[in-house]
Amino acid sequence: MSGATLLELREVGKSFGGVHAVTALNMEVRRGEVLGLIGPNGAGKTTVFNLVSGLQKPSSGSIRLDGHEIGGLRPDQVCRRGIARTFQTASFLPGLTVRENVRLAAEFREPAKRQARSSAAVVADALARTELAEVADEAAELINVSQQKRLEIARAIATEPQLLMTDEIVAGLNPAETDGLLKILTALNRDGMTLVFVEHDVRAVLSVSHRLVVLAQGKLLAEGEPKAVARSPEVIRVYLGSRYAGNR
Ligand SMILES: Nc1ncnc2c1ncn2[C@@H]1O[C@H](COP(=O)(O)OP(=O)(O)O)[C@@H](O)[C@H]1O
Ligand SMILES: [Mg+2]
Repeated sequence: MSGATLLELREVGKSFGGVHAVTALNMEVRRGEVLGLIGPNGAGKTTVFNLVSGLQKPSSGSIRLDGHEIGGLRPDQVCRRGIARTFQTASFLPGLTVRENVRLAAEFREPAKRQARSSAAVVADALARTELAEVADEAAELINVSQQKRLEIARAIATEPQLLMTDEIVAGLNPAETDGLLKILTALNRDGMTLVFVEHDVRAVLSVSHRLVVLAQGKLLAEGEPKAVARSPEVIRVYLGSRYAGNR
């Protein structure tokens, strides 16, 4: 399942004026794992994604992918090194079809990847894996919410990443749609993709994650094997109490 360190954050900090969104954060993502990243609203989860994906520059610390510093690189540079992420709100381009949206992502790949595999093949594969082939020629804004979430994943995987980070991807989906999406993510992981999974749905997190990292107020609160972390009194007090432990 999980192996060597793929992504490593060392003493990473990010402040916005006086707000410390992330403080001296140390965490790692291991190659091949599904890492669940959880914590209360405002804990800094999305900021971690923004820092890793290059949308924001860290105020301090180091972010290494495969041992190489990526902290402060631009989003396109980070993407070409093999990290893709989804956004909390849909990021597809309206006015284009589902397939065209995925194709734009595939064409954004670095030249070596484009030579190794045609965009058409990558697009077909991304659409099949996300079960969107049937609506590939529909306008992206006209497909349903569950399909739009899968389009976010299709666009991300069409860049052929080694690491995929999803930010509250099942939010707003019903239980059946959630299960469908989790199956898609689990299959991607089984075929070798490393995943970082930010989610409020604790059932979903516990069902797919090999390891959990819990953030609170920008700091690491706990990490480890999911069931052990979910039983930690500190984690229950700060986060899980009302969501999980309390209503078992
Ligand atoms: N661009 C920004 N400007 C100012 N404050 C921000 C900005 N982005 C995030 N924050 C603050 O940083 C903290 C962490 O936010 P965020 O990373 O979005 O948390 P989460 O995704 O865990 O809910 C919050 O207090 C939030 O208000
Ligand atoms: Mg967030």
